[in-house]
Amino acid sequence: MKDAQPSTVYLKDYRVPEYLVDSTRLHFELQPKATLVKSQLKIRRNPAAGEGLPPLVLDGVELELLSVSIDGKLVPASRYQELPQGLSIPVDAPEFELEIHNRINPEDNTSLEGLYLSNGMYCTQCEAEGFRKITYYPDRPDVMSRFTTTIVAPRQYPVLLSNGNETARGTTEDGRQFVTWEDPFAKPSYLFALVAGDLQQVEDSYTTASGREVKLQIFTEAKNIGKCDHAMRSLKKAMRWDEEVYGREYDLDIFMVVAVDHFNMGAMENKGLNIFNSACVLASPETATDSTFQRIESIVGHEYFHNWSGNRVTCRDWFQLSLKEGFTVFRDAEFSADMNSRAVKRIEDVSMLRTTQFAEDGGPMAHPVRPDSYMEISNFYTLTVYEKGAEVVRMIHTLLGAEGFRKGSDLYFERHDGCAVTCEDFIKAMEDANGVGLTQFRRWYSQAGTPVLDVTDAYDEATGNYALTVKQSCPPTPGQEQKLPFHIPLALGLLGAEGTDLPLDSAGNTQVVLQVTEQEQTFNFTGLQEKPLPSLLRDFSAPVKVRYGYTTEQLLFLMRNDSDAFNRWDASQRLAFMALEQLQSDYRQGKSLYLPEALVAAYRSVLQNRDLDPALIAEMLALPSEQTLAEQSEQIDAEAIIVARKFARGALAKALKDDLLVCYRGLHSDKPYSPDAAEIAARSLKNTCLTYLCVTEDTDALELAQQQFHRASNMTDSAAALGALVNFAEAADTEAALAQFYQRWRQDTQVVELWFGLQSTSARWGTLEKVRELMQHPAFEQKNPNKVRAVIGGFANRNFTQFHRADGSGFEFVAEQVIALDKLNPQIAARLVIPITRWKKYRGELGEKMQGALQAVMDSGKLSADLYEVVSKSLA
Ligand code: PHE
Ligand code: ZN
Repeated sequence: MKDAQPSTVYLKDYRVPEYLVDSTRLHFELQPKATLVKSQLKIRRNPAAGEGLPPLVLDGVELELLSVSIDGKLVPASRYQELPQGLSIPVDAPEFELEIHNRINPEDNTSLEGLYLSNGMYCTQCEAEGFRKITYYPDRPDVMSRFTTTIVAPRQYPVLLSNGNETARGTTEDGRQFVTWEDPFAKPSYLFALVAGDLQQVEDSYTTASGREVKLQIFTEAKNIGKCDHAMRSLKKAMRWDEEVYGREYDLDIFMVVAVDHFNMGAMENKGLNIFNSACVLASPETATDSTFQRIESIVGHEYFHNWSGNRVTCRDWFQLSLKEGFTVFRDAEFSADMNSRAVKRIEDVSMLRTTQFAEDGGPMAHPVRPDSYMEISNFYTLTVYEKGAEVVRMIHTLLGAEGFRKGSDLYFERHDGCAVTCEDFIKAMEDANGVGLTQFRRWYSQAGTPVLDVTDAYDEATGNYALTVKQSCPPTPGQEQKLPFHIPLALGLLGAEGTDLPLDSAGNTQVVLQVTEQEQTFNFTGLQEKPLPSLLRDFSAPVKVRYGYTTEQLLFLMRNDSDAFNRWDASQRLAFMALEQLQSDYRQGKSLYLPEALVAAYRSVLQNRDLDPALIAEMLALPSEQTLAEQSEQIDAEAIIVARKFARGALAKALKDDLLVCYRGLHSDKPYSPDAAEIAARSLKNTCLTYLCVTEDTDALELAQQQFHRASNMTDSAAALGALVNFAEAADTEAALAQFYQRWRQDTQVVELWFGLQSTSARWGTLEKVRELMQHPAFEQKNPNKVRAVIGGFANRNFTQFHRADGSGFEFVAEQVIALDKLNPQIAARLVIPITRWKKYRGELGEKMQGALQAVMDSGKLSADLYEVVSKSLA
């Protein structure tokens, strides 16, 4: 924890590094409480930095410095200066070799940044600024160096890994073993990795398009060795896909993946040695749900794709984070879409974006895809940088077309291979390869906030002219009162009375992408025989909100007829949203609630539709979540949202009971599990039906859930049934099922996390007490982020009902946990606090209670830089 209040770093202050590091030799002698690190750096004055020889300033945090030598000569301590966060050494030659010895303490490192221990295995996490917790170094991504790493460890750690290729191994005089690794590619320190442990491995190989053979290895603790197959298959698919779609081949002879139980994020793309959160790599049909299978495929792809978009071409500074993350999320989303159902993948991603990223964009931490400043960079691994950043790249893809985009990415990789570059360089490559200008488009990188499009239309029967007027606006965000118009690709189609797409030009195209660039713009379509119905923002062609005065009938029409699957789903969401708004307002006015018959009929016909992808049906049947409703509210009335949604869900369940049952029975199958798109779709619809059926709390429905729970041969079905019981069965039955489930799976970390999550997200009264109880459970571990996310995060982020208890006890609980966690793991604390930062959006007393909880965090004493940034900005 830092002493002074954390300071702000600005993009405008960027300066090239004063010194470059041509090579980095690291030597580790591993010991839990006292690991010795020796580092030898070949350092050279950066000719681009100017004249003279300023002192060499290195980053270093929580290090015990032992010695400094230059060109083989010890530098006396009086010559250099230890800084609060580093080391300053005087320089008298433009080139020299620096050797530093220091000690670190992996065992007490609970921040999970730098070198730490996880279940007895050593591992590292260096992005963004973790390398400075290993040794003194210019810890910034534009300093790229060739690394050679030697690891010395006692025999209990037979597996010793680092980046690149193994070049030596042996035994030291005192009987320890060592391995040396050499990475032929220059890289920034954030891509460094080291692993040491008693691990088992699964091995495979891959032959690249040009015929090179690559060894593939996944390392885990012995007990998990049977859970690596899906990740391995996913890896090979990703390698093939990147060759086919981007022309990118892997570049080392070996690619390693390691599963680690204690990890702050999903996974990390260290060169040749990806480190994964166990939850994002380990799976078997008995223990993992369909969504876990899909998540693993996408994250394995994501980290693999970083080898080009991130490692070969990296970021100049951390303001450019979206350069690698936005692009790589776009790549992994397309990969998943190609491997599974494209429409369903898009729907899942957009619903997530709309709920969580839009909320971020409308909240106190709103920032552009390329932020202008930060106090703590770890706080900027956000939905905006990742997901909105990916939408920005997708818009470029839409504007240039697949071929043009590929030309641009080819030029980008060719031009900048081996370099640390900026978002500007990415757009420039896209422009140059296509001979186009994207000047105005660049505002997506610099302006925060979610743009709103207000669309109106007019049809002139006499001339057959249809005029569509689009007004754009963007609400103010912190530090940005006024916004300039964005360049927005607005994909649309026009439906005729028959429900088919009308031709929009002489060539007969039925879809156009309008270039919305001005504050207000009118687009004319001529030669139309009838007034069309617009299908707007097809496939969600831009991360904006579209307002258009659709009537219920028009939405029902789009739900049935739109040729764009995404917009069919979107129409169902708009329809449900309208109904839920009405219910909220009726509730506030004390009126009795009822669900419009038209909505019930629409849901029924979706449910009976045999032509639609079952997964799409499941998505259409799902009501917008409470979180989504909250995000779309001007002022959040949590109680009205909860009541309205619960009522609508119950009314639908009752009215559709027979159809749900037919559908459920029709989808039940005894086939062996396979995580392919068709079967995932069937299970998804089946379990959606089951949950709806149980909403009524009818005994026959709950009996169905019991049966499924007891007979399930895969975790998807088992967890869905247990989830239904946890939310709707009588307490005794719930407890029995939970106990039985735990008994069966207590040895399996991933399943226990799921078990925690099912309980912490239960909408039942009493969940908060349950959550406190779970924190006393022997399987709960405060130092393990996955457990914290399952129990506390599940409650704060995925349990709208109980988190928003009117007495404010949900907020107080979160505040209390955040304060405790900040002492152990600031990154986790700073994320967990987010649900209580949006107090300004709440109506009345609830907002005040939330603010009070946040203030209590602020007043609790010295906060980490991570937590301080989020809390202070949210209270302002
Ligand atoms: N770079 C990682 C990814 O997105 C995420 C990450 C960031 C992991 C920081 C750990 C620490 O692939
Ligand atoms: Zn990433």
